[in-house]
Amino acid sequence: MDRLSTLPEPLLLIIISLLPFKEAIRTCVLSTRWRHLWRSTANIEFNEHFFANVDARREIQRQVFIDFAQQWIANYQEDNIDKFSLTFSHPRNSQIFVENCLKFSLARHVKHLGLDFSEPTWDLSDPGDNPHPVSFDLPSQVYSHHILESLTISSYNFVVSEFRNFRFLKHVSLAWVEFRASTVKALLVNCGLLESLNLKQCWNTNNVDVCGQDLKLTSLVVDRCMCSGYQRISIEASNLKYLRFAGFVAVFDVNTTGGLEEVDLDFGLASMCDEDSGYLLYDLLCEVYPSRALTVCSYTLQAITMGPEPIGMEPRLSVTNLTLKTAMHYNEQKGIKFFLTSCPLLETLTIDIRRGTIFLHEDEAPFHALNPFDVWIENPIVYSCIIRTLREVEIKGFKGTQNEFYLLAYLVLHGRVMQKLTVVTSREINNHGNPAVYRSVAEKLYALRRASQHLQITIL
Ligand SMILES: *[C@@H]1O[C@H](CO)[C@@H](O)[C@H](O)[C@H]1NC(C)=O
Ligand SMILES: *[C@@H]1O[C@H](CO)[C@@H](O)[C@H](O)[C@H]1NC(C)=O
Repeated sequence: MDRLSTLPEPLLLIIISLLPFKEAIRTCVLSTRWRHLWRSTANIEFNEHFFANVDARREIQRQVFIDFAQQWIANYQEDNIDKFSLTFSHPRNSQIFVENCLKFSLARHVKHLGLDFSEPTWDLSDPGDNPHPVSFDLPSQVYSHHILESLTISSYNFVVSEFRNFRFLKHVSLAWVEFRASTVKALLVNCGLLESLNLKQCWNTNNVDVCGQDLKLTSLVVDRCMCSGYQRISIEASNLKYLRFAGFVAVFDVNTTGGLEEVDLDFGLASMCDEDSGYLLYDLLCEVYPSRALTVCSYTLQAITMGPEPIGMEPRLSVTNLTLKTAMHYNEQKGIKFFLTSCPLLETLTIDIRRGTIFLHEDEAPFHALNPFDVWIENPIVYSCIIRTLREVEIKGFKGTQNEFYLLAYLVLHGRVMQKLTVVTSREINNHGNPAVYRSVAEKLYALRRASQHLQITIL
């Protein structure tokens, strides 16, 4: 800190502006000189949820938040800000406050603007009696703010033709709005520089057509967007490198000439698992053909082996980084074997332990559950990647179950070139255990005979 304190103030301000707003505020305790510096940060984030622990009724919390933000704006001395974001659920009677915030940021030439009016409790996948939450109209003065480079809006209606003004816009994130096929088309036509597009919890997204010549788009996220019937995702974007999709099983049509580098697929909302899904997922993996990093969910682990190739992808994938979101259930073991077979170049494996829907009944899925003790300990198949390439393994949310342990033991006993195994124990407490118990199970790994002399095991 001492060395930092000798820096001139403008430089310190740049450093502070690089910090998240909450951290920037924390710098005020560092010294008298820092006490007021954070008030000049160019990265401003007003978030009502930061005030959620003020011990008072919600209405009072909101008033404390509004007072804080207004005071802050009144004291702000700088001419330019880089980022401004306002997170404020359902502004109801606070339109003037919202307008003040907006006026403040636009007058200071903000380049990255975020406005989020959604409620944290909204859940489109379980619409209840609130299928389409209220949206507000994006204030018209935003459209004339030509210099915007990124725009994040949640629960705001917008006029996509007005996006024509945003000549420098590179990043767009939209959440909790209606998003028809025509909207994405217009967005791509109007914003020629667009590099990333995030759609989260939007509705009426039956067709997401991300197609166009010379698109600059490198990153696309479609996260739990809803529609009636099957969703069709068509992608023809020659520069696209990153794709993340979460939702029901959708029909994909992907053409990226350069190939995708990183793909994250999560079908956690799917409620049926059958052979058709297996074929659909297999075709999808062939189509996206992730070249470096792949993340798959519990659903894929259960369904993929019902597709045309029960053993592994043909041809094999060139994936080096694989993340498995799994509960390490019996029904997922075959899928885990499938991906270890399919990724002979695997270097980094992440096992993210989490609950997923397990399809147990015959009428939901014709499963062949495998016994993990048999798969990993008694009759292990040592895959090519385990002997030749796998260097790093991390397991997150380790709960010390036998099935988790068997897989880790397999990796320790057979991973000949392994260098690092990190076990991050779960914080969760339930009737099967607590962090101390999880830890004591993980510590048993120390006693195993390691296939790699260079393996270091870390338990966190
Ligand atoms: C993929 O896109 C390229 C260029 O945009 C095009 O030439 C090619 O025909 C497309 N391939 C398929 C299978 O549609
Ligand atoms: C793959 O994992 C390595 C090691 O954790 C990391 O350095 C690298 O950035 C990852 N690559 C991709 C494409 O995620």
